[in-house]
Amino acid sequence: MSNVRLPGVTAESDTPRRVLLAPSLLASDFTRLGDELQAIAGADWAHVDVMDGQFVPNISFGLPILAAARAASPLFMDVHLMIDRPERYLKDFADAGADGLTVHVESTPHIHRAVQQIRELGKKAGVTLNPGTPLETLRPVLPDVDLVLIMSVNPGFGGQKFIPHSLDRIRTVRRWLDELGSSAELQVDGGVGPTNARAVVAAGASNLVAGSAVFGPGGAQAGLERLREALK
Ligand code: DX5
Ligand code: ZN
Repeated sequence: MSNVRLPGVTAESDTPRRVLLAPSLLASDFTRLGDELQAIAGADWAHVDVMDGQFVPNISFGLPILAAARAASPLFMDVHLMIDRPERYLKDFADAGADGLTVHVESTPHIHRAVQQIRELGKKAGVTLNPGTPLETLRPVLPDVDLVLIMSVNPGFGGQKFIPHSLDRIRTVRRWLDELGSSAELQVDGGVGPTNARAVVAAGASNLVAGSAVFGPGGAQAGLERLREALK
């Protein structure tokens, strides 16, 4: 697994942190999904955004596309479920090839049970929340998760602008995870690109999702390279 090390560049953290990059397939060219996955072979994870038109005001794709991506690539399939009552579909997404499943605290009254179910399926369990949801809502499940995702845009669409106060939210969750001695990934999703990636990592992120910044002009390989350069 390749990763990026920050050589002591962060004002906020004194130890270099390894950073995993997770290009979001939502911004890829679906007519060339296999080629797009090939172009991001040097990434760490593939981020898979599932939207149901209920939890978020947009519909993206679901199980068959995940299965196709799984068959075409050995990358860790990081599935972000933007769907109501995700517990109904956890097993289906696991069977379709997810390696990690991330659920929103707003999408179910039983967030802890959903996290338990993901782990029982043998997958990495992630929890996330919208930018307007108090961080305290995910605190009770922190000891039981493998990943926390801080949404830095309102979920539903790619290509939106990073919400600046997300940096404070990242700092808070970084502190909570460190206090717990947790090695859970701290992932950030929405409007992340070469201009803000360092600040996001300096605030405490270990894992960056990027859609439009990777699958942009010049192809995904170049997009990924720009992101890595920005982190050097
Ligand atoms: C938004 C999705 C994101 C999105 C990111 O609902 O969860 O993963 O694809 O896209 P960019 O990087 O373009 O903001
Ligand atoms: Zn996402």
